Amino acid sequence: MATIIDGKSLAQKLRSEIKEEVYHYLNSGERPPHLAAILVGDDGASKTYVASKERDCDFVGFDSTVHRLPSDITENELLKLIESINSNEDIDGLIVQLPLPKHINSSVVTDSINPEIDVDGFHTINVGRLTKNEDTYISATPFGVIKMLEEYGIETKGKHCVVIGRSNIVGRPMSILMSRGGYPGESTVTICHRYTENLKSHTYVADIVIVAVGIPHFLKGDMVKEGAVVIDVGITRVDSDNNKGYKLVGDADFDSLLDKSSAITPVPGGVGPMTRYGLLYNTLKSYKRKLNL
Ligand code: GUN
Repeated sequence: MATIIDGKSLAQKLRSEIKEEVYHYLNSGERPPHLAAILVGDDGASKTYVASKERDCDFVGFDSTVHRLPSDITENELLKLIESINSNEDIDGLIVQLPLPKHINSSVVTDSINPEIDVDGFHTINVGRLTKNEDTYISATPFGVIKMLEEYGIETKGKHCVVIGRSNIVGRPMSILMSRGGYPGESTVTICHRYTENLKSHTYVADIVIVAVGIPHFLKGDMVKEGAVVIDVGITRVDSDNNKGYKLVGDADFDSLLDKSSAITPVPGGVGPMTRYGLLYNTLKSYKRKLNL
């Protein structure tokens, strides 16, 4: 029976530590940290994510500002807003919730954010710093996964880690972090994706499998070896007759993996809460850097 990695409790503990730290700064007369978020359009999942980020800021004592923009806003108008936030000394973090409408180039937008307040870590400069193992903002989800592995003392050195998915937000940075020097890291990493032939031949030899493909129950128990560690990054909304009208389903088939793996993250309550913690961590990091704390 696997250890169930309790991201929810861990994130709660870590969030409370941030709250205490902020309380201490406020008592010393400093201003609160401030996160700004831009939400374009009315995608249901994005609205939910941004609302959780606001609640999280509130909990730890950060100020937050959300700019809600219509989906037909032009790229130029969006860039102008980002420019004005970039030059606001009192804002420590700026995120633009993705995905953006098709007529807006996400890459141009993320690269227009001042890298020093790019707490999502999506700017090309911050991705470059990550690949060089330099100090940077590690994107919230990969950061949350690394923190989980660390807090649960999961051995990574010399282990074979298979990352399924090569997205800029999760798979790619995850693979870089797992192979970097230091702990967690020093793993031998394989990245698998939609064109990988015989996926099971890779996952079956992995000590750690990180799955981020957005396909419910994609990774099954018969695809991993006995004792593997399974990190499930997937969060897909599927229709449900509960009061929300949907439920969240992971990329890992939890039931068939539970007996086979040595540790596994559940959905919900695994990586998701740790991602939310990652954003708070990065915002606090920017704040402390700005104020020399
Ligand atoms: N969309 C999905 N994940 C993320 C994230 O971590 N940050 C932003 N800004 N948008 C996202």
